[in-house]
This record gives sequence, C-alpha cells and structure tokens, in this order.
Amino acid sequence: MDTLQTTQPPPDEAKLMAFLGRVVGDFGAAMSAALAHIGDKLGLYRAMAQAGPLTSAELAQRTGTAERYVREWLINQAAGGYIEYDPAAGRYHLPPEQAVALADEASPFFVGGGFQLVTALAKAEPRITEAFRTGEGMCWGEHDPELFEGTERFFRSSYLAHLVSDWIPALDGVETKLTAGAKVADVGCGHGASTIIMARAYPHSRFFGFDNHAPSIERARRAAAEAGVADRVTFEVAQATEFPGSDYDLIAFFDCLHDMGDPTGAARRACGALAPGGTAMIVEPMAGERTEENFNPVGRVYSAASVLCCTPNAICAGGPALGTVASDQALRDVVLAGGFTRFRRATQTPFNRVFEARA
Ligand SMILES: C[S@@+](CC[C@H](N)C(=O)[O-])C[C@H]1O[C@@H](n2cnc3c(N)ncnc32)[C@H](O)[C@@H]1O
Repeated sequence: MDTLQTTQPPPDEAKLMAFLGRVVGDFGAAMSAALAHIGDKLGLYRAMAQAGPLTSAELAQRTGTAERYVREWLINQAAGGYIEYDPAAGRYHLPPEQAVALADEASPFFVGGGFQLVTALAKAEPRITEAFRTGEGMCWGEHDPELFEGTERFFRSSYLAHLVSDWIPALDGVETKLTAGAKVADVGCGHGASTIIMARAYPHSRFFGFDNHAPSIERARRAAAEAGVADRVTFEVAQATEFPGSDYDLIAFFDCLHDMGDPTGAARRACGALAPGGTAMIVEPMAGERTEENFNPVGRVYSAASVLCCTPNAICAGGPALGTVASDQALRDVVLAGGFTRFRRATQTPFNRVFEARA
C-alpha cells in the first residue's frame, strides 16, 4: 500500500502516542460493550451481586454457563474496572456500586439497557455506511429488535429517577392536574416505559400511548397488563402527526421528537389536541446550543446515536432530520412553527433537557 501523501506537518510523537493510547481505550470499550451485554443477558452480573467473591467455575455453575468462556469474560471485566479480583484467593467480586448499575434493573442507575442498545445499534453499520453514500434513511423498525428493548431499558432508568419527582413538578400546574385526574397522551411512547411510570404515579389520570411502530405498541400493551395499569392505559399504533383524541391536559414526547420525519407536524397535532390550558412536555437528549458544546462524553454518545439511528429514521420518514443533538433554538423553531406560542427549558439532567410548550 502506498504511503498517504499529505500536506500535514510531521506528527508530534508524544501527541501521537497519547492519541493511540486513547484509541486502545476505545477499542476495549467498544468490544467490551458486547461483553457487558452478555453479562446482563446471561445473568452473570446478577449472580455476582447475589454472591460473595466467586471463581470462574463457581460463577459458571451458578449461571449454567461454560466455565471456559466465563474465565475470559471475568478477565475482561476486571481489566475494565467493572469487577474486582483478589489474586491471592483467585476470586472475583462485583463491588456494590457496580452491582447497582449492572445488576439492579429497578435502580434509576441501571445501565444494562445501554449496552443492549449499543450492541444492537452496531449491527446497523453496513446499512448506515451505505446510507452515507446514498443519503437514504433507515427506519426505526428496520433495526435489530434488541434496539427496541434496549431503548426501553436504557431510558427507563432516567424516567424512574426523574419523571415523577422532578420533571412533571417543573411544569406549570401539571402535577396538580395529574394528581386530581387528567388526560395524558404519550406520543412516540415505544414500549411505554414512561406511560406506565406516570400511570402508576397518578392513578386518577388516564393515559394514551401512541407510536407508529406496531411491535412496540404490542409490547407496551403487555407491559401495561403486567404492571396492572391496563385499566387506565391504552396503547395504539398512530403517527405523531395524526394521533387520535382531543382535550389532553398533557401531551408528552419522550426522546422522540428529533426522530420524527415531520416534527413540526407532530407539534401542530399536539397543539390542536390539547385541552384549553394544556401543556406539552418535550424531553430531548442533552445537547449544547453551539456545535462545540457537544464535544464531551454525553455529546459523543448522542451524536453517535444520531448517526446510527435517529437521523436515519427521520430521513426514512421524509426528514428534514433535527438530529439527536438539536439545539434549544432548533427545537423552539419547530415547536413554535407547530402553533405553540410559549416554549421554555423547564428543567434538565446531565442526559436530558425537559421543555414545556404552551399554546
Ligand atoms: C428513541 S425511541 C423512544 C421511545 C420512548 N419514548 C422511550 O422513551 O422509551 C423513539 C420512538 O419514537 C417513535 N416514532 C418515531 N417517529 C414517529 C412518528 N412519526 N409517529 C409516532 N412515533 C414515532 C419510534 O417508533 C420510537 O418508538
């Protein structure tokens, strides 16, 4: 292979070595995402959380897995700081902090869904590479189905942590209405994690979840039945631009407005479907106002999701794509073009911005 002809000055060796060191870290992180997903899927983390220090043979025996694989997996996990190793005893253990994040699905700090999502998204690479050439999209429903469950499990953690305790109280007068009994739409609800969390918290209110991905709606219906809230939660396949019903007190969009082909049309439909004095809550990934404000770990995650999933879905649906790291101004423009007159950032977390829109 010919040497690359370049107009660049010769590299600074120390900077080159430092960069290569970062790349090695990224190689390890990228491959280890699949291993973390394996640990989540096979219950390896859960078994470690329930036991004291274990050898590879004991962990394999507890989880019904093959010791030879478990032995290699444990080395990778200890190398990444996910578990700890006692060389004298030849045993590994999961520290309590890692146990909360990796083994406790009910915890607001649970990250297992993130690895499921990342592993599923990586499978889209051939399609997305081709899309760079053609400019075409890739619809949400064309991804590996693990993406839908991974998304549900990934986002559920932050909804558990913030939705009822922080986000709804940050909206003007909404908590009082939901407590008394209100009508709520959850547009782009996916598997309905947010809908079901709200239905549990506000038993006098009625909830209507809509999504244009039929398998997600089927899954959401089963989840509502399992959660015992199916009497006040309905899930229906619908486009955000034409979901049924009127007089909603609250219409929520959780991490989905930027995925839509016609976000202005969705905002317009929401504006028209609100009861007088109603509120739209738009939860979007954290992003900076200027491009360079996204050059951080959270911006790295969300801009990658934008390339692999959100932007291709919006293009598939006719675009223009807002992108996962859309600025407040870009979102405001879309929402106001849909007929709302007021738009503000009501609250935020390190991962999400929560906007309130009023007609
Ligand atoms: C990233 S997922 C978020 C799902 C869910 N809100 C959550 O937080 O778990 C985006 C969702 O938006 C849905 N979606 C995208 N465009 C839509 C549209 N035009 N109408 C209805 N749903 C749409 C997708 O099918 C997908 O379920």
